[in-house]
Amino acid sequence: MTSSPYFAPVNNSISTFKDNIFEGKVLFCTGGGSGICKGMTESIMRHGANAVIIGRKFDRLTEASRELSERTGRTCIPIQADVRQPQTLQAAAERTMEYFGRIDFVICGAAGNFMSPISGLSENAFKTVIEIDTLGTYNTVKATIPHVRATKGAYVHVSATLHYRGTPYQVHVSAAKAGVDAISNVVAVEEGPHGVRSNVLAPGFTSGTEGMRVMSGNKTNKTEGFSNPLGRFTEIHDVANVAVFLFSPAACYITGQVLPVDGGAEHLRGDFFPYPSSVVDPSSVRKLLKGKM
Ligand code: COA
Repeated sequence: MTSSPYFAPVNNSISTFKDNIFEGKVLFCTGGGSGICKGMTESIMRHGANAVIIGRKFDRLTEASRELSERTGRTCIPIQADVRQPQTLQAAAERTMEYFGRIDFVICGAAGNFMSPISGLSENAFKTVIEIDTLGTYNTVKATIPHVRATKGAYVHVSATLHYRGTPYQVHVSAAKAGVDAISNVVAVEEGPHGVRSNVLAPGFTSGTEGMRVMSGNKTNKTEGFSNPLGRFTEIHDVANVAVFLFSPAACYITGQVLPVDGGAEHLRGDFFPYPSSVVDPSSVRKLLKGKM
């Protein structure tokens, strides 16, 4: 199989945006102790914000907040909470207000995933992922909305592209993320008149994350058995750059949108033509092409 001759570069957001665009702002991020959400938090802090990261595992959060503060020169505090328990999120929002006095940006990022066919999935397993992803997003929105209204801030909800089609072994996550997308749309419409924006960021397979480990059996090779138009898996920086954009004044007229960050993978119908060999070398499918090459 011909592999892609092109791999999109990985850009650290600091080279794209001014480094003080979020000066004085405060980010509240669920799931910020690791992976994509930690990466987004770092990029937003590098642009001037302070942050609160929320999760279940306090040791991991404490270590992550120390790292994030050290790397960015801003303040990050860890708050232990379970997004399935609304009262713990309310307490986290109140503590953020006591500590920083404001919440400008919210990332609803806490998520759970594992691979299972419907036949092997218990009702409780399905419910657990709905509770973490969908209910957890709703609980986070409920706990933060008065504060985000006060700053005319914005939400970014971390979703996925799995539910655009039927992804095997992902019925629980597909249903959960469809719910997340729906919540964001309603937040955009209800809160827009109060100056609050809400958008969804939908990463593709993202290197170096727990989600990638769960879904690919520990595969980290960037090309093996995988093609998309931009030639590689999503990197955490790709998602972080888009989060910076969505919170920035450059996105002040963007709300109620879903933005996949997947290198165009969602648009690929590789089942008709071998990909990318058919577009890199059209002569390889000469028999199928009627037009000029
Ligand atoms: N296949 C099928 N069912 C599974 C499963 C799997 N791989 N993993 C968990 N479940 C089921 C459990 O059996 C249980 O159902 P049951 O009571 O009918 O037996 C239900 O899901 C809840 O599991 P439990 O481990 O008690 O829940 P938890 O709240 O401690 O953790 C997850 C839930 C999703 C967070 C956990 O599966 C996990 O740690 N996943 C990997 C980490 C992760 O998801 N990271 C984010 C990637 S995007």
